[in-house]
Amino acid sequence: MIELANPFRPGAGHQPPHLAGRQAETEEFTRLLKQNTILENMVLTGLRGVGKTVLLETLKPLASEKGWVWVGADLSESASLTEESIATRLCTDLSPITFPIVVSKKQINRIGFASQPVTREETLGYQQLRLIYEHTPGLALDKLKAVLESAWLAISSANSTRGVIFAYDEAQNLADHSEKDEFPLSLLLDAFQSLQRKGLPLMLVLAGLPNLFPKLVDARTFCERMFRVVFLESLSRKHSQEAIQKPFQRKPNVPPLDESSLDTIIGMSGGYPYFIQFICREVYDVFVQCWRREEAASVPVREIQQKLDTDFFSARWARTTERQRDLLFVISRLPDCDREFTVREIIEESRKAPENSFSGSNANQMLASLTRQGLIF
Ligand SMILES: Nc1ncnc2c1ncn2[C@@H]1O[C@H](COP(=O)(O)OP(=O)(O)OP(=O)(O)O)[C@@H](O)[C@H]1O
Ligand SMILES: [Mg+2]
Repeated sequence: MIELANPFRPGAGHQPPHLAGRQAETEEFTRLLKQNTILENMVLTGLRGVGKTVLLETLKPLASEKGWVWVGADLSESASLTEESIATRLCTDLSPITFPIVVSKKQINRIGFASQPVTREETLGYQQLRLIYEHTPGLALDKLKAVLESAWLAISSANSTRGVIFAYDEAQNLADHSEKDEFPLSLLLDAFQSLQRKGLPLMLVLAGLPNLFPKLVDARTFCERMFRVVFLESLSRKHSQEAIQKPFQRKPNVPPLDESSLDTIIGMSGGYPYFIQFICREVYDVFVQCWRREEAASVPVREIQQKLDTDFFSARWARTTERQRDLLFVISRLPDCDREFTVREIIEESRKAPENSFSGSNANQMLASLTRQGLIF
């Protein structure tokens, strides 16, 4: 019964059956594609599971339609350990595009053969890009710029290309390490800023958690002007409805979802895309089964909440201390707990139950460790 296969995809980077909303964000990206001189790059940011990776994937074909070449990858922490490793990352990502491009031809006289000399073509593969990096005199910045310039020269001479987009997901992993005298993040930013000023159409698209943009600005204040920040939010009611209903409607043998089930799912998910996929995956199976037995179906709210607790929250929750849990409870009582809040608000809220109150430094320290644990941003 292939046609009944569950279409919903709760999982990191899995394309949903229907990507709802995101028109404004897509238009913003299309606007950036129109730049001849790159004045603005893009930061695509938002909480875990809000849909950064899947949106990034859908921007890719848009860019190629408009004549842009797209290179990129996920940025692991190790890619951002040293200046050398970020350079390796960029060479690796450029090489699939540049390796077929012939950059020089040499005539070689073959010794011992009376025949004609042969022509050897040199292309710009990974090794050649690395050689440019190594042999360019100067600092890492000079070297990296030389690589990017050579790559652009080759790409633009081979095809009619508008420019190159360097798209990096999980870019919050980028960091400078002053204790080790390594500044890979600053290197990346300096290289692109300098080449863009020279008029090269090389654009950065960085996707990552909400700490990404502050990290960029911390490293280089010019980032405030260099990036257009697109903040992905949960889906509106209308778009949540689409994300839930459309996949049901596309299955000819599955009855449409009734209004009250739809409301329940929207309410439970809060419009949060990962939860929509998660809940709908469960609901779909239950509904298909009921429908087969010709029974009335309803959303199994308790079971789904239970499953979310064990599958999604319990591992993170288990790693928290008693005191951290107290702090999280206090935060959850703030009116803006799922947006921005201040340490002062936390302290004031915690004083309402004096036995559980937190001092400023106390809260500050704990917020830092909760952030490292991925529980808050
Ligand atoms: N616009 C959307 N409509 C419907 N479902 C969506 C939408 N955006 C994302 N999803 C679903 O939400 C889930 C999370 O998406 P994705 O992995 O892209 O999030 P993310 O922001 O990259 O998360 P992370 O920070 O963990 O990398 C996936 O299951 C995806 O199918
Ligand atoms: Mg992602």
